[in-house]
Amino acid sequence: MSGRPNRNSKSEEHTKTIVVLPGDGIGPEVTSAAVSLLKDCAAETGRHFEFVEMPFGGNAIDRCGRPLPAETLQACSGADAVLLGAVGGPKWDGLPLDRRPESGLLALRRELGLFVNLRPIRVLTSLLGVSALRPELARGVDIEIVRELAGGIYFGEHSTEGANGSARATDVESYTAQEIERVALFAFDRATRRTNKLVSVDKANVLASSVLWRRVVTQLSANYPTVRLSHLYVDNTSLQLVVAPRQFDVIVTSNMFGDILSDGAAGVAGSLGLIPSMSWGLGPSLYEPIHGSAPSLAGRDVACPIGAISSAAMMLRESFGMELEAAAIESAVDRVLESGARTPDLATPRSTVVGCSGFAGRARESLHEQFSLHERYGWGV
Ligand code: IPM
Ligand code: MG
Repeated sequence: MSGRPNRNSKSEEHTKTIVVLPGDGIGPEVTSAAVSLLKDCAAETGRHFEFVEMPFGGNAIDRCGRPLPAETLQACSGADAVLLGAVGGPKWDGLPLDRRPESGLLALRRELGLFVNLRPIRVLTSLLGVSALRPELARGVDIEIVRELAGGIYFGEHSTEGANGSARATDVESYTAQEIERVALFAFDRATRRTNKLVSVDKANVLASSVLWRRVVTQLSANYPTVRLSHLYVDNTSLQLVVAPRQFDVIVTSNMFGDILSDGAAGVAGSLGLIPSMSWGLGPSLYEPIHGSAPSLAGRDVACPIGAISSAAMMLRESFGMELEAAAIESAVDRVLESGARTPDLATPRSTVVGCSGFAGRARESLHEQFSLHERYGWGV
């Protein structure tokens, strides 16, 4: 912090507006942890981050009557990036589907044109002991799940007719070639930046939308001669993710399959609380942990902030090009875990159990240590 030239110029280039949507349940606790680390990075690097907090989800229903108020959408549209906590809770579970907090999340994704959702699943060496799998299976797992986010059954027609014994409910899964192509392009690009291995997941032995999915992805592969593309059915993928997860690098799949597979894959990493995500597309990218609002944990300072903190790191890397700072945050998280401090979801008998704020405090200390070493000796220490 000290001894550095003051680069707090607040010039446009260095100013980023980050809209923060804490949401419901543990959302406010985990986003506040993530924001504290973002502020530290800004202070250290002379960037200026402006944080604008807006109502969203259940709390917005309570305050404004709608989960996605117009002012919130407007603020998000004009932002450089959006950081979201989580939405939903028992208080709003009785509402019709199209008025629940979750409908606000779907509307936000659609309105911002976010058609890609990137979910990295990494098994940290420090957390091998909490993976749901044996260490020899989990060690070294490093997967990127690319989930289609703006189409499929989530956005198809939903309807219910009749009542009681004669009731029928319908949800329509539908994809256009163009919707498949745009997310597949993202996945191919991602694969070329990693190990050139892409698995496309579908259910092409049953679903027409999956037959189209497979055809479009296969056609595109002609433009990516270095990428080894393979196709897997979704049921087999769920098996492979638990019996041999290291075979995967980049996975691309539909909205629904990606939702389901990413929760399962989080078990391989050790906890749903660990996994960050980026939603990407036409508008500003949105970063959020993949966990839900966990109402039973809310307000008790026991939630795991790592998914949210890692989402903040992803924001620095993917939206702001701040690779060093992103890596410093990730390394700070890793160092705290190595020291044995854990939130209850990650604790083993030998851990020091800390709360959400306690974990964030330790991560900030570790971040400061890295920055001061960097000031003295340069990066790479
Ligand atoms: C997720 C969540 C959401 C989804 C819910 C909250 C609507 O499960 O981001 O994975 O299904 O997309
Ligand atoms: Mg989900």
